[in-house]
Amino acid sequence: MDTLAALCSLLFLLLTQNAAILGQLDNSIRGSGSPPPAKPPAPSLRLQPSTPSITHFVNDSFIIFCQTVQKDIDTKWRDPRGQTRENTKGRVHIEKKTMGLLALVFEHISLDDRGNWTCEVNGNGNGNRNVNVEREFLASFELLVNQKISFGKTEQVQSVREGRDAMVNCFVEGMPKPEVSWLYNGEYINTVNSTKHNRLSNGLYITNVSQADAGEYTCRAMRITPTFSDSDQITILLRIQHKPNWFFNETLPVQYAYVGGAVNLSCDAMGEPPPSFTWLHNGKGIVGFNHRIFVADYGATLQLQIRNTTQFGDYKCKVANPLGMLERVIKLRPGPKPWGPSSFQLKRSQPDAIELDLKAPRMTNVTYEMQVYGYRVAFMSDKEFKFNAGNWSHAKYRDFSFHRGQHFIIPHLEANTTYLMRAASINLAGLSDWSGVKTFATAAGCSLWNPSLYPLYALIVAFIRT
Ligand SMILES: *[C@@H]1O[C@H](CO)[C@@H](O)[C@H](O)[C@H]1NC(C)=O
Ligand SMILES: *[C@@H]1O[C@H](CO)[C@@H](O)[C@H](O)[C@H]1NC(C)=O
Ligand SMILES: *[C@@H]1O[C@H](CO)[C@@H](O)[C@H](O)[C@H]1NC(C)=O
Ligand SMILES: *[C@@H]1O[C@H](CO)[C@@H](O)[C@H](O)[C@H]1NC(C)=O
Ligand SMILES: *[C@@H]1O[C@H](CO)[C@@H](O)[C@H](O)[C@H]1NC(C)=O
Ligand SMILES: *[C@@H]1O[C@H](CO)[C@@H](O)[C@H](O)[C@H]1NC(C)=O
Ligand SMILES: *[C@@H]1O[C@H](CO)[C@@H](O)[C@H](O)[C@H]1NC(C)=O
Ligand SMILES: *[C@@H]1O[C@H](CO)[C@@H](O)[C@H](O)[C@H]1NC(C)=O
Ligand SMILES: *[C@@H]1O[C@H](CO)[C@@H](O)[C@H](O)[C@H]1NC(C)=O
Ligand SMILES: *[C@@H]1O[C@H](CO)[C@@H](O)[C@H](O)[C@H]1NC(C)=O
Repeated sequence: MDTLAALCSLLFLLLTQNAAILGQLDNSIRGSGSPPPAKPPAPSLRLQPSTPSITHFVNDSFIIFCQTVQKDIDTKWRDPRGQTRENTKGRVHIEKKTMGLLALVFEHISLDDRGNWTCEVNGNGNGNRNVNVEREFLASFELLVNQKISFGKTEQVQSVREGRDAMVNCFVEGMPKPEVSWLYNGEYINTVNSTKHNRLSNGLYITNVSQADAGEYTCRAMRITPTFSDSDQITILLRIQHKPNWFFNETLPVQYAYVGGAVNLSCDAMGEPPPSFTWLHNGKGIVGFNHRIFVADYGATLQLQIRNTTQFGDYKCKVANPLGMLERVIKLRPGPKPWGPSSFQLKRSQPDAIELDLKAPRMTNVTYEMQVYGYRVAFMSDKEFKFNAGNWSHAKYRDFSFHRGQHFIIPHLEANTTYLMRAASINLAGLSDWSGVKTFATAAGCSLWNPSLYPLYALIVAFIRT
């Protein structure tokens, strides 16, 4: 038995080493009209798994074995480019299991691994190849690699120029390639025969962009294959570039402040791309410590602490983006500091609110325009006061203006709670000094007013209505 196996192996080796010679021999034998040679042996290589094509997603791991019938035959793997793979480490490598079992290991598959991988008997294929003979010493499979749908470097906020043609970019990746369709603010865009929208491989082409084209574009990728189907989408906010324009048409061209007070000068403008904001004082940049600038996407507020009369004058705000610029001047004039409230009392206490009695002083020697027009009330509960170590910067506040009436109510308070409050008057030049701190308590409230009794109240209401 052993001798038979050894003989077989020897014969096999001879065959592989001399395939070409044997091929010629075969032909010469046929040519001479002699009887046909012995039937070629059954395939000597087998793959496990053995399907001719195998599908995997990118990053999947996968192992395939090449098995020889004769245990001591040497085999090797060739990649789709025909290179022999011998590395035993790396993302794709070879592992020799036992005699006659050679594994091809994909730790995680990449798109580049697509194609036909071949296991063959070592030493075969040198020189003159004979297909008929070689077939028995080759086994191959096709690796098909699928890639999840992704949108790569697609930007979720894009901005395009008004009055021109533009592209909403959507870089769809995926294998097999998905079909892309587009939605605008949730509505399907028909691109067939459209003069406005055209679907291109890397995005949606829009002709003659106008402000009306701003909005949300959904790039939807979908594919249906014999083995699976999937879809994914990305929503892109499209902004239309335009030169800056003011948020509010009429801002006060004159503002007032007093030395020792503070004032906020604001400048709010829209623009795409978002504009830059620059403040100038009497034509020069603003220096020193008495100012702060709060910049937002569409505005910049200049907060000034007025310490010196030299800080009055013209403040210019410049707004610019690549498409244009705007400027506006606010004249900062000295104004009289308001007098504090002449009366600050509790008027009525409720479980969730406190109504205050506030009276404005009549400032002598100032114009009607400069009189007190409202109040600011700052407040903290006794707990908050303790928690903040008496620092009034942390207090909540509420502003009142006389033109909204003479009721000064602080709402949304907690019942049966003590509050510390202080008040200041407001005129065009800013805030007065703060009043002394007063302590007021909210009412204890109806103890019957309890959430567990809501069904009962409903019953009572229903009863009253009938
Ligand atoms: C594959 O895995 C790598 C890292 O493990 C990851 O960065 C990459 O996004 C993954 N690719 C896919 C398509 O899942
Ligand atoms: C792999 O081989 C099969 C059968 O020979 C062939 O149809 C297919 O096109 C090949 N695939 C590639 C990627 O070369
Ligand atoms: C597009 O235009 C062609 C030619 O004008 C027409 O035959 C076709 O029906 C149109 N398709 C759609 C979907 O309107
Ligand atoms: C582009 O659209 C504007 C209105 O948004 C229109 O006035 C103009 O004629 C259009 N231009 C072209 C070339 O279609
Ligand atoms: C500002 O005024 C212009 C023209 O007077 C007008 O077209 C525009 O709508 C106004 N803008 C605002 C925000 O009120
Ligand atoms: C100026 O604005 C800041 C921040 O919004 C605010 O805290 C402050 O009270 C404002 N100052 C005046 C005088 O209105
Ligand atoms: C105001 O500023 C000017 C110039 O910087 C300086 O000469 C003057 O002393 C300042 N006045 C006060 C009251 O600080
Ligand atoms: C009142 O105003 C006048 C003119 O503005 C000024 O001359 C006068 O000193 C002021 N009197 C007081 C008490 O402020
Ligand atoms: C009060 O709080 C503000 C803001 O946190 C802080 O800047 C200030 O220094 C505090 N004042 C005192 C007296 O602690
Ligand atoms: C109000 O608060 C006081 C002290 O915190 C407490 O003794 C009293 O029971 C409370 N009253 C109600 C109706 O909750």
